[in-house]
Amino acid sequence: MASSSFEGKIAIVTGASRGVGREIAIQFAKREKTLQAFSVDGVDILVNNAGLMNLYPMGQLTSEAYHTVFDTNVLAPLLLIQATLPVIKPGGSIIKISSRAARVALGGQATIYAASKAALEHMTRNLATAHAAERKITINNVLPGGIETDMIATAPQAMIDRVKNDATAEKRLGQPGEIADVVCFVAEGGGGARWINGDTISVCGGAAMW
Ligand SMILES: NC(=O)c1ccc[n+]([C@@H]2O[C@H](COP(=O)([O-])OP(=O)(O)OC[C@H]3O[C@@H](n4cnc5c(N)ncnc54)[C@H](OP(=O)(O)O)[C@@H]3O)[C@@H](O)[C@H]2O)c1
Repeated sequence: MASSSFEGKIAIVTGASRGVGREIAIQFAKREKTLQAFSVDGVDILVNNAGLMNLYPMGQLTSEAYHTVFDTNVLAPLLLIQATLPVIKPGGSIIKISSRAARVALGGQATIYAASKAALEHMTRNLATAHAAERKITINNVLPGGIETDMIATAPQAMIDRVKNDATAEKRLGQPGEIADVVCFVAEGGGGARWINGDTISVCGGAAMW
């Protein structure tokens, strides 16, 4: 794209080595002339995408299991947001990648993962209330359903089948690019995106309609 409102912006995307994060980073780069990794001049966009979906059946719900998932899915985004808020520029955007699991019960083994994503969602509401107006930014979640990445491939086949079947738009998994497109819309902050704050945008083929 010759020019866009991404031009010259600095974005941090966590977990960009593969899956959804990789696609978000590629889509950002395609909308910019040059890909910049980091700058001391400040940050425009932070995407907290890195996440772990470890599944633990009852009997394996240890404190180590809890910390493994919550440290990655909740604590790391919280600390990164805390570090970014003082340097984020007006017009900036902080986006977290939630999950349909935050809203729909997928079974006991997903309990810790689901709770971590629910925590992430509510964290967003609080942070957006406290900091969006003050910093002139928006803080939101994008909520995928099942997406065709390495993560879903680790789930039991019955869960994958259910996730596909729960989608109402089409009976399939989503693609990383479908999440990246919506992340770009929110991050770009143009038009109506500037008026979305503290919210969670479902991009899950209609598997979670609230
Ligand atoms: N795929 C789905 O069905 C689905 C559904 C709903 C929500 N989501 C959410 O979407 C996001 C991306 O998921 P994905 O499907 O793209 O997963 P993925 O293919 O498994 O990729 C996960 C990414 O997160 C990074 N990561 C994981 N744990 C980390 C840690 N402790 N420290 C630093 N980086 C870490 C990984 O880095 P390495 O390559 O170094 O391991 C990788 O880049 C996650 O937040 C996930 O919960 C995914």
